[in-house]
Amino acid sequence: MDFTPSQIEEEAKQQLLSVHSAEELEAFRVAFLGKRSKLARAMEELKNLGAEERKERGREFNHLKQFLQDSIHSRKLSFNSSREAAADFDESLPPIEPLKGKIHPIPQTISEISGIFEKLGFEIVDGPEIETEFYNFTALNIPLEHPSRDSFDTFYTTDGRLLRSQTSTVQIRVMQARKPPLRVIAPGRVYRPDEVDASHSFMFHQIEGLMVDEQVTFSDLKGVLHLFLRELFGPEIKLRFRPHFFPFTEPSVEVDIRWDKGWLEILGAGSVHPHVFEAVGYDPKKLQGFAFGLGVERIAMLRLGISDIRLFYENDIRFLRQF
Ligand code: DAH
Repeated sequence: MDFTPSQIEEEAKQQLLSVHSAEELEAFRVAFLGKRSKLARAMEELKNLGAEERKERGREFNHLKQFLQDSIHSRKLSFNSSREAAADFDESLPPIEPLKGKIHPIPQTISEISGIFEKLGFEIVDGPEIETEFYNFTALNIPLEHPSRDSFDTFYTTDGRLLRSQTSTVQIRVMQARKPPLRVIAPGRVYRPDEVDASHSFMFHQIEGLMVDEQVTFSDLKGVLHLFLRELFGPEIKLRFRPHFFPFTEPSVEVDIRWDKGWLEILGAGSVHPHVFEAVGYDPKKLQGFAFGLGVERIAMLRLGISDIRLFYENDIRFLRQF
């Protein structure tokens, strides 16, 4: 006998790798278990051996035979199940939709709002989230001892900077960097020392707007905001301009929209305060401007019918999938 059972087993394992069809499996079966296979010949030759060796070899060849039969059986099963799977395939059914990503409702709202202002000739600009006191307070006419600073005091870094509490900071940066005429909006994150509840979050998004030129009046502000809010909430929307105080605008207003039989505050605005122009080196006698700031979450909640601000940040796919 010029081969051992383990040599045949090795050979069989090798050849099994290239068995890919029922025909190939049958050829494999004939080669390894057929009448003229090495195994059959080896079994034939067993009778020429002595009793001891015959018993020993016989057991080994029976193991090999079992191994070959098992391999063929499991291969056959795998062919059958893929054929059954192919038979189950119904090409008339609609395809399975691939999982598509979606844009989160906050950036969705930001790009919708930005789109409206872009049509009005506003450019989208950006500013840092970690700011100096100059940009967050001083240049915006909020002095050190001003009470409104308390509700704006956020996390400070060890070098005295802080997480910005309003996107109004970007007004200052843009005016420092450029000359009028200016028409910009600045979307971004802001931070507040607020207790988190259904309508408050320590972080949310604002969009700041600024227009500066030689002649920009309060009626320009009203016109732009009317256009914007009608575009956003529909042509029927009713607005109310209510006198208010902001350090960086004079006069200042809060703008409400009519909502569910009541009035809902939607943004703050006003004419740029002369102190703000002075802080950036603009001449308040030659220039005029208006500014406004709105909360993105508030608008998204109104338009999408969401009652809890925390839902925006929890990353629950069941919530996010709806928008
Ligand atoms: N920065 C204000 C805030 O965070 C919002 C604001 C109000 C911005 C009036 C303005 C403005 O530009 O004119 O509450």
